[in-house]
Amino acid sequence: MKPNPNVIVGLEKADDAGVYKLSEDTAIIQTVDFITPIVDDPYSFGMIAAANALSDVYAMGGRPLTTMNVVCFPEDKLEIDVLSRILAGALSKVEEAGAVVVGGHSIKDAEIKFGLSVTGAVHPQKVITNGGAKVGDRLILTKPLGTGILNTALRAEMLEASAIETLTTQMATLNKAASEVMVSVGANACTDVTGFGLIGHLCEMALASNVSVELETGQVPIMDGAEKLARMGLIPAGMYDNLDFREGMVEQKGELPTWKLDAFYDPQTSGGLIIAAPPEKAEEMLAKIKDSGVKLAAIIGTIVDGTPSKIILR
Ligand code: CO
Ligand code: CO
Ligand code: CO
Repeated sequence: MKPNPNVIVGLEKADDAGVYKLSEDTAIIQTVDFITPIVDDPYSFGMIAAANALSDVYAMGGRPLTTMNVVCFPEDKLEIDVLSRILAGALSKVEEAGAVVVGGHSIKDAEIKFGLSVTGAVHPQKVITNGGAKVGDRLILTKPLGTGILNTALRAEMLEASAIETLTTQMATLNKAASEVMVSVGANACTDVTGFGLIGHLCEMALASNVSVELETGQVPIMDGAEKLARMGLIPAGMYDNLDFREGMVEQKGELPTWKLDAFYDPQTSGGLIIAAPPEKAEEMLAKIKDSGVKLAAIIGTIVDGTPSKIILR
């Protein structure tokens, strides 16, 4: 592809979204994400798919402006009301984000798939990528891990109603509040945790930033119930793919139970942000993120020197 000076973030560094400069003070952020149903309730699925898609704009430090619905729907097998409820759930999250739905496209398909393309805005000098992490930065994770494990249990009908509720609420929660605090306090790098799991996305940040990561394994928040379910073997197939892909970059110091390592590789749906905060700002940022309602956020590690990039588990 020919280089274009207005492309601030393109394909090269596995970032969350593309960023294109329109003028000296405005850049647009563009991203698209769609998923297959993970919960039975169509309205909840719409909320989760929308939160998941909007998250990539928040991870870049941006503000969502407009969205378009991306729909694959088996209209001969399911009531159209199911689709209406998916769209209504998504709309509730788009409105919460302060954005507007301006269009979309649907096709007939054997299986439901739904998501959004999202356009956001950011100041060209204030784009937060996964490549800006500096030695000494503290890493903040804003949502606990384990959605892949709990979703596997849900599919196996082994999840209690209260756990389904907690899981749904977490996945439907926007990364808006955490992102706004991150932008106001000032961060060096950010990405959201999705399909590649915590370790996979830490690897991308480490590689893009040319640094290594020390993960404090005892500090990583993990969802209630995930330990028990992982110990029972309710592990999504994607966890093994993530492990195969990245274990060569991981250096384990000390003991770590297998279930916990599984959780670190567990693919997340609508996961939290990983924020690299300058050391003098990290505690303040964490406190403000918690005050904004993101109660389970935690400092989980530190950016350290060292190439080739490694993830060191302590
Ligand atoms: Co992302
Ligand atoms: Co994405
Ligand atoms: Co069309």
